[in-house]
Amino acid sequence: MLRICLRKNLPCSRPLFAESFNRLLSTQTGRKLQDKVALITGGASGIGKAAATKFINNGAIVIIADIQQQLGQETAKELGPNATFITCDVTKESDISDAVDFSVSEYKQLDIMYNNAGIPCKTPPSIVNLDLELFDKVMEINVRGVMAGIKHATRVMIPRGTGSILCTASVTGVIGGMAQHTYSVSKFAVIGIVKSLASELSGHGIRVNCISPFAIPTPFVMNEMDQIYPHLDSQRLVEIVRNVGVLKGANCEPNDIANAALYLASDDARYISGHNLVVDGGFTSFKNLEFPAPDQAQ
Ligand SMILES: NC(=O)c1ccc[n+]([C@@H]2O[C@H](COP(=O)([O-])OP(=O)(O)OC[C@H]3O[C@@H](n4cnc5c(N)ncnc54)[C@H](O)[C@@H]3O)[C@@H](O)[C@H]2O)c1
Repeated sequence: MLRICLRKNLPCSRPLFAESFNRLLSTQTGRKLQDKVALITGGASGIGKAAATKFINNGAIVIIADIQQQLGQETAKELGPNATFITCDVTKESDISDAVDFSVSEYKQLDIMYNNAGIPCKTPPSIVNLDLELFDKVMEINVRGVMAGIKHATRVMIPRGTGSILCTASVTGVIGGMAQHTYSVSKFAVIGIVKSLASELSGHGIRVNCISPFAIPTPFVMNEMDQIYPHLDSQRLVEIVRNVGVLKGANCEPNDIANAALYLASDDARYISGHNLVVDGGFTSFKNLEFPAPDQAQ
């Protein structure tokens, strides 16, 4: 289409030309987020950091919004001039609002909002002993923080009629029984948020999706594992986490989630919204019937 426009000298509006040219350029060079501005909550570590790295390598400017100031600054420094750090506690609406405003004042726009910050929780396994204060705390970060992120991102995306919103859910929000109720419920809610919000945001040209990672030995998981198995060293703990996967020959890594995030954030996924992209090597897709082997059945 681009070539026809040029050769035949057909009328071709400048914005349309620029859009087609940029899309062609970004696909051909592999820089799928050229000149896009992305805000990533929980970007100082783990999955958020991997996504920030991937986005920058694909031409984006990334604002890392995290509660850990020192680590966030170190991460931004490590990622180079296209990364900036801003202190942000997702439980404070004003922090999220400020981070979004910073993106607009500093870089004129916000193209991608990745609501990734989240915490695990250690509660007694049975519902009858549920710690409701802890429940509220986890919901405040994992659910309310995501809603607040979407609220403020859309404040600046709706007037532009474009944007891509991502959230980190979890396999524990796809099937029950894989985590404590509180954490699991918080991630079911994230998937619900995406589906509910897609209904409104589609009408504004804004896509909203989430990613459900399998277990990855990030600090998030390793701290929990450390508490459960204080007698084991970190190498053994990583091994235990990896052994629960089902896909032979591969382990789930932050980079696998970053690849999914890049896809969903980019024009490659331009017609995908309201989707939960499960990155679990097939884990939540099947269950084996544990029949006894014929020679062992009595
Ligand atoms: N690691 C896993 O196995 C796994 C699996 C599924 C989903 N997840 C989800 O992935 C997301 C990222 O976790 P991760 O594994 O990269 O862990 P991580 O601990 O490496 O990163 C989490 C980041 O979130 C930040 N954060 C925590 N509370 C915050 C707050 N109130 N405001 C702003 N930032 C805050 C932390 O400082 C940290 O940098 C979380 O939402 C988590 O629930 C992780």
